[in-house]
Amino acid sequence: MAKQNIYDNEIFFENYRKLRKNAGNANDVFEIPALLSLLPDLCGKKVLDLGCGFGEHCRLLADMGAASITGIDISEKMLDIARRENSSPKTEYINMPMEELNRLDGEYDLAVSSLALHYVEDLDGVVKNIRSLLTDGGLFVFSQENPICTSYSGGDRWTRDENGSKLYLNLKDYSVEGMRSTQWFVDNVQKYHRMFSTIVNILAQNGFVIEKMIEPVPTKEILEKFPKYEDLRHKPDFLLVRAKKQ
Ligand SMILES: C[S@@+](CC[C@H](N)C(=O)[O-])C[C@H]1O[C@@H](n2cnc3c(N)ncnc32)[C@H](O)[C@@H]1O
Repeated sequence: MAKQNIYDNEIFFENYRKLRKNAGNANDVFEIPALLSLLPDLCGKKVLDLGCGFGEHCRLLADMGAASITGIDISEKMLDIARRENSSPKTEYINMPMEELNRLDGEYDLAVSSLALHYVEDLDGVVKNIRSLLTDGGLFVFSQENPICTSYSGGDRWTRDENGSKLYLNLKDYSVEGMRSTQWFVDNVQKYHRMFSTIVNILAQNGFVIEKMIEPVPTKEILEKFPKYEDLRHKPDFLLVRAKKQ
């Protein structure tokens, strides 16, 4: 099946850009702080960012002392912003699907991927290639949509009370892995659902040891500022993993 490149869809792209500019978006409040907390000391490190999007993480990694950052992304629209807004002498952007990582050469100390792996059908193939690009002891730090979210296959996400307030999440088809076609700004946005055990086993089978996982949930302080995140008590939106090449 042809790989989808939804971020080059004009309507999707414009809406996603707006979403990321909203103050208090879930990336800024939950995902980015959790991802940063999993990073090692970056001084002098060679870093690969898979699905780098607008390049915001590449810029952060450069500011944190990385020696070089290679950001790859399938979307030319996303890379266009990255090149215009988040360039640095240490940063290179390449338009390439991460399924073709074997085209890269060189060695990296760290591979980072933020919220891109759930767009990939062959996670095992990507992880194999990451392994061969990493130095011994190199780290793979990634976030993806939480499997509780990627499992969604239609119908009501929530059971609600008579006033329409959310009571709890409806979880179905969790064990049915594979492509999900969802509506997100546009119809037919394709993502891939994998169970937790599948993700963990793919890492283990490719010689990675998991050092830490995070499923960010709202703290009291976050809820005071952003009461809308109350739902995340039931359903963490993200899964983050720090894995080390053995
Ligand atoms: C949710 S955005 C995240 C962007 C960036 N990592 C961030 O956190 O700001 C997902 C990105 O993954 C990219 N992407 C999706 N599938 C990809 C693939 N197969 N190879 C490379 N990039 C991909 C998209 O084009 C998009 O830029």
